[in-house]
Amino acid sequence: MPIDAAAIPHLEQREAAPVLMVDGTPFTLLAGEVHNSTSSSPRALAEALDQAVALGMNSVLVPVTWELVEPEEGAFDFTTVDFALALARERGLRLGLLWFGAWKNAQCFYAPAWVKRDLERFPRAQMARGQNRMVLTDFHNMSYSALSLFAAATREADARAFAALMAHLAKADPQHTVVMVQVENECGEQGGAREHSAAADAAFAGQVPAGLVEALTASRDTLAPDIAAALDAGSGAGTWEEVFGASAEELFTSYHMASYVEAVAAAGRAENPLPLAVNCWLDKGHKPGRFPTGGPVARVMEVWRYAAPTIDVFMPDIYVPYFCDVCDEYRKLGNPLAIPETATYAYASAREIWAVGHHHALCFAPFGFEDMGKPFDASAGVLFGADVSDPAFRIPQDPSEYRAVTERLSGLLSLDPDAYGTPRLNAASRERADEAALAMGAFTVDVTFAAEGLPGAAAVLKVAEGEFYVLAMRCMLAFRSTDAARPHVDLLVLEDGEVRDGAWVADRRLNGDEAAIMRYDEPTLLHVTLFAYA
Ligand code: DGJ
Repeated sequence: MPIDAAAIPHLEQREAAPVLMVDGTPFTLLAGEVHNSTSSSPRALAEALDQAVALGMNSVLVPVTWELVEPEEGAFDFTTVDFALALARERGLRLGLLWFGAWKNAQCFYAPAWVKRDLERFPRAQMARGQNRMVLTDFHNMSYSALSLFAAATREADARAFAALMAHLAKADPQHTVVMVQVENECGEQGGAREHSAAADAAFAGQVPAGLVEALTASRDTLAPDIAAALDAGSGAGTWEEVFGASAEELFTSYHMASYVEAVAAAGRAENPLPLAVNCWLDKGHKPGRFPTGGPVARVMEVWRYAAPTIDVFMPDIYVPYFCDVCDEYRKLGNPLAIPETATYAYASAREIWAVGHHHALCFAPFGFEDMGKPFDASAGVLFGADVSDPAFRIPQDPSEYRAVTERLSGLLSLDPDAYGTPRLNAASRERADEAALAMGAFTVDVTFAAEGLPGAAAVLKVAEGEFYVLAMRCMLAFRSTDAARPHVDLLVLEDGEVRDGAWVADRRLNGDEAAIMRYDEPTLLHVTLFAYA
């Protein structure tokens, strides 16, 4: 039966940001990503999904691994996908699936044994000539290996398996429990800025595709300054070194990594038009070769846009203190924000409010949410390359606060789903500034944060001129008129409450002392109506 593309989850461009449409309405994955091994076990996944429900989440990001899907070449087994679908449906959750194919954290952990064993057909990336193992002397001495980007057999096998997964979903998931799929996981190469096999050297000595130079030239304004400078100084046509000088190896690897992922994504898209995304291990200011080079870091997003047109969303995995800056960076080239991984520690709740309220993120997902509330595990932090100077890592996220925020955020969005992707929804976060003025038509909402303690955040939804719903946590609010002819403001209604089935249910009418000082420490959902007069 042909797939009805309009009924399938898809991205829709709105005034302020693209939104993910699911069942005809904008849907935000207020999600968590499970630990890597959870989805291999129905027992472990069921427990994790129960936790997701307890945290107020509406969706979960779940790996599907090549090694379990295709244990023998050509013999596919979707048991893990089918139990994930069933467990999610029982709980009313949506899923984002993560294809752990040839690439997982810049390595090939999840390639099936028949791929790992066949070094001839599926060669390893030689980051130094003759070496099958990447050496990162400044990192750690683990055996570290990736499959080469320059082996057609690897790309084709990965693409076949991914296509089989997408075809399986087209049959097994007519109700669209799965709303998006991530292709590979934190792809990129370490231990050098490019591969050094004979095939890689030959490609590097070849000509840069003219289309790539045109695309980068056309988006010169958004290029990272060093890449723009290299492009300006280059020959405009010729070999990678001639065209891109000092940036040649990084752009070469980015182009080939993006082209590899495009081949896999396109094979999947031919079977099923679900939105496709890639996630990214950030460069964190490191040099190419030290961070997974070629992955969709913001500085090479222009290359990815050109070489991987089937990818709908580029998603940062954010474990750094400059959370807000990363979110901003990932909005370039019209990219919607989606965060498939972020620290599960304190700050997660405030970051959720801000990413969703300010950037209209398609997804916000603390990684390993199964552990929310537990003390920080420093060895795990180092393992996943987190920047442990991020204060977010020092204090566990209180799960009950996370639940309160996520439920209220979900309620706020359900009051007016069509505000998503429009300027009628905005947010402020103390991580961005101690004070913010959110312009909302005839009124401005002033948000002031306490300088000490955990960061606060507030999201404001305008439903009519002078009528707002606000989710406030660890902040003070004040309202101003922007109409010079009517500068004074009266509060007509101030209520706290909750949203049930998309409708506002007031708890307390707030007035007197409770309206004179609008200060909220706990996550609080408010309904506000204002009147401006001369
Ligand atoms: C980033 C990866 O994408 C995840 O799969 C996981 O390995 C985390 N790091 C942390 O362990």
